[in-house]
Amino acid sequence: RRAPPCTFVVFGGGGDLTKRLLVPAIYNLACAGLLDDGFSIVAVDWAELSDDILRAQFHEALQDFVAKRGTAAAVLRDDIWRWLNTRVSYLRGSFEDPATFERLGARIGSGNAVFYLAVAARFFGTIVDRLGESHLTDEVGETYRRVIVEKPFGHDLNSARELNIRLLRTLRERQIYRIDHYLGKETVQNIMALRFSNGFFEPLWNRQNIDHVQITAAETVGVEKRGRFYEGTGALRDMVPNHLMQLLAMTAMEAPVSFDADAVRDEKSKVLKAIHCTGPEDVVRGQYGGGVLGGTPVRGYRDEPDVAPASRTETYVAMKLAIDNWRWAGVPFYLRTGKRLAVRKTEIAIHFRRAPYALFRDTPVDRLTPNIMTIHIQPTEGVTLQFGAKIPGPTVRLGGVRMKFDYSEWFSEGPSTGYETLIYDCLTGDATLFQRADNIEAGWRAVQPALDWGERTEAAPLCPYAAGSAGPIEADALLARDGRQWQDLA
Ligand code: BG6
Repeated sequence: RRAPPCTFVVFGGGGDLTKRLLVPAIYNLACAGLLDDGFSIVAVDWAELSDDILRAQFHEALQDFVAKRGTAAAVLRDDIWRWLNTRVSYLRGSFEDPATFERLGARIGSGNAVFYLAVAARFFGTIVDRLGESHLTDEVGETYRRVIVEKPFGHDLNSARELNIRLLRTLRERQIYRIDHYLGKETVQNIMALRFSNGFFEPLWNRQNIDHVQITAAETVGVEKRGRFYEGTGALRDMVPNHLMQLLAMTAMEAPVSFDADAVRDEKSKVLKAIHCTGPEDVVRGQYGGGVLGGTPVRGYRDEPDVAPASRTETYVAMKLAIDNWRWAGVPFYLRTGKRLAVRKTEIAIHFRRAPYALFRDTPVDRLTPNIMTIHIQPTEGVTLQFGAKIPGPTVRLGGVRMKFDYSEWFSEGPSTGYETLIYDCLTGDATLFQRADNIEAGWRAVQPALDWGERTEAAPLCPYAAGSAGPIEADALLARDGRQWQDLA
């Protein structure tokens, strides 16, 4: 189904996100025939650019994007590029100056519009205020006016609340699309399909059968050129209240009554509100030092550009959380995320309880292979089930085996940026994969105690780890204390 005609306005349209992700996503939507001829892009930015220069930059970005595929689709489709090219225009102006918005209004006219805020967070409030003052967010008749807000949405619970209040002065909740790009990932959306379209997972999905859950988002990259941003942010704020909480919510929420945006978001809110972190002993903050990654020496965080030599910003965090509800009482959820770890890997591992009794003389119950269902989010996409089986031979001996579903073996879809679904959903008015005000606040509320402890050195010390390692040993101790251990980071 084609999306209705729309002017797609990108604030920060000359920036990196637009070129690397948004324009490729729009190209993919055009290839799939999902955009109307009445679709156009207006890029708003302060840089001195012209329509032609911007189009040339988009063209180059698209060529880079398709070249990465290395398949038959590795060539930019000329017909699609010609279609898109004529629909791109540039508007130079400051995000604070009402004159920018006046000119923008003239460019958009009276039709549908999406305003994408691909700008630094300090501009979110101002841009929305200005849009409102210029009546660009007024919806007349059937037309829609929607705003997509990038992350970071606030800096803590209070600032997220304040930002919500500010946006809601101009916009109605249904006009606001707060993005979390993890929800654009196929494998993340698949968690709901897995749980709610199959008969055999859900009956086991509870405290009677699940021992604990581990959620890992490990990265090999360091802070790259984002030292200035990261210094004031850290791994906890950057990854946990948003991305990891989304993974947790998808894994732990109750079945919604339907797939309507509000039904899904109600359930997410409920489970996020039930999260509880007991004390500073359940949080490990780490920071990478120098090390070796993929055979190459890499520098430590404090030696990265724009990072203070005595920085206390964490680049790694591990947490033990409880979910205080009937389904999950007593089942710990362990989360960890960090930069400069040994491998890039995002996954959710559901550890089931052991068999209650071992019939097998040579394999005592504590040596039985643990039953683990791992949902691989990236870079491998799929699901693995680990369980025990008899090793062939005359004696009864047991060994661990794995059953694996791999996305790439089953489906031949070309790679996407993860933004295709999100943009298409916004164009068609489906907010299921976007965060509602209460979801965002619930995510922050869950990590606020850990943020507060992080302010106090004595409560939450910073544990060093070598770049290229599996993280600080203190994170291993967090699980060892409970007689458990992390999935291998290899
Ligand atoms: C972003 C964070 O939101 O997510 C980055 O700001 C992080 O620091 C990135 O690297 C991870 O996204 P992905 O899709 O590579 O897992």
